[in-house]
Amino acid sequence: MNNYRFKDLPVCPDDPILELMVQAAADKNPHKVDLSAGVYKNDAGKTPILQAVQQAEVLRQQKEDTKSYLGLAGDLRFNSLVAEMVLGKGHPVFAEQRVCTLQTTGGSGAIRIAAELFKRIQRGARVWVGNPTWANHIPLLAAADLELLTYPYYRVGEAGVLFGEMMQALQAAEPGDLVLLQGSCHNPCGEDMTHDQWRQLADLLVERRLVPLVDAAYHGLAEPMDQDAFGWRHLASRVPEMLIAWSGSKNFSLYRDRAGALIAIAATPERTKAVMTNLMNISRVVYSVPPAHGAALVAEILADEQLHTIWQDELLTMRERIIGVRERFADELAAASACDRFEFVRHQKGMFSFMPLSSEQAQALRREHSVYLLDSGRINVAGITASSAEYVATAIARVI
Ligand SMILES: Cc1ncc(COP(=O)(O)O)c(C=O)c1O
Repeated sequence: MNNYRFKDLPVCPDDPILELMVQAAADKNPHKVDLSAGVYKNDAGKTPILQAVQQAEVLRQQKEDTKSYLGLAGDLRFNSLVAEMVLGKGHPVFAEQRVCTLQTTGGSGAIRIAAELFKRIQRGARVWVGNPTWANHIPLLAAADLELLTYPYYRVGEAGVLFGEMMQALQAAEPGDLVLLQGSCHNPCGEDMTHDQWRQLADLLVERRLVPLVDAAYHGLAEPMDQDAFGWRHLASRVPEMLIAWSGSKNFSLYRDRAGALIAIAATPERTKAVMTNLMNISRVVYSVPPAHGAALVAEILADEQLHTIWQDELLTMRERIIGVRERFADELAAASACDRFEFVRHQKGMFSFMPLSSEQAQALRREHSVYLLDSGRINVAGITASSAEYVATAIARVI
C-alpha cells in the first residue's frame, strides 16, 4: 500500500473566491447578498442568458451537423471575428500579417497558454504583475514556472492608478520581460489607466523592449467596445510583440461555456506563423482541442447583423446598470457613513471596487450581515440591487 502515490498529496486549500460563492448559496438569511465572484447580475440578482445567445443557440442547433473535433486552433470563424472585434477591423497589424489567434477555454485558458508560450521561450521567464491583481493571475502564471515580479497599481481607499510608481517600478524590467496589464474594468480595483497613461506606458514598453500581455476580460463593460479597446489597440500599433487574452465570459455572459481567445502579434509574418504553431502545439499537450459550443455562439452573434445589434443593446444594458448601481451605492454609502470617503465607488469602472476594510471586518460582514465579499474587501458591484444597496451600505458602515 505504501508504494501508492496519492498518499503524498496534501489537501489543497479551497479557491478563496469560488468557496465564498458556495457559502453564500448555502446561507439561509433572506437578506444575504453575494458580492464575491466576478459574475454580472441583473437587478433581480440573476445572471441571465442573453437574448442574443438564446437566438444564436437556435441557429446553431439548426446548422450543427457534426460533433467531430475542431482543429487545434479552434473555431477559425470565431478566431477571425474576435480578432477583428478586439483589434478593430482596420488595424494595421492585419495588413502586415502580424496577428494570429488561438481559441482558448475562456480568458483563463488564454493566460495559461500565454504563460506556457513564455516558458517555452525561456524557463523561468519573468513576468511583471500589478499589485493588486485578479487572484487567479498569480497561480495561472506561476503554474508555468514564470518568475513573478510586481509593480504598484492601486492603493485601497484612493482614487486613480499609482501610475508614477508603476512606471518607476517597470524601469527595472529587463528586455524581453512580460508585463501583465488589464484592458478595462480592472479586477479587483475598478481603476483603469487613462488614454494618456496608455500612451506613456507604450513609450516605456518600446524603450525597454518589454512584451505586454493584456488581459481583456471585460471588453465593452466599462465603455463602448472601441473606447474600451483604446489601450491595447494603441499598444498593438507601437510594440513589435504582444499578447491579448480575451474572454467572452462576461460580455457575452457565457461563463460556463468557456469562450476565449489568445491573440498574438509578432514582428514579422514568419514569426507570427511560428508563434501560431507553438500555440497549437501547447494546446495539444495541455487539453488538445477547445470546446466548440461557446465559441460557435460568439461567432454566430458577431457574423449576424441583427444578433450583433441585439447583443450590443444587451451589453449597453449591463454597462448602464453597473454605472447606475455605482451611483446608487455611493449615495447609500455616503448616507450610512455620513462622510465622503467612499466617493471613489461612483467613478470607478466595471464590476469591482475595494471597500476599505480589514480582513476581520470583511469576515464580520459575512458572519453578522450575510454580505459576502472577499477578505481583501473586494466587492462585485454588479451583485448589488436596488433593494439591497441600502442594506449593504449600512452593514459596511456598521462594521467600520
Ligand atoms: C481579470 C480577469 N481575467 C480573466 C478572467 C477569466 O475569465 P474566464 O472565465 O473567461 O476564464 C477573469 C474572470 O473572473 C477576470 O476577472
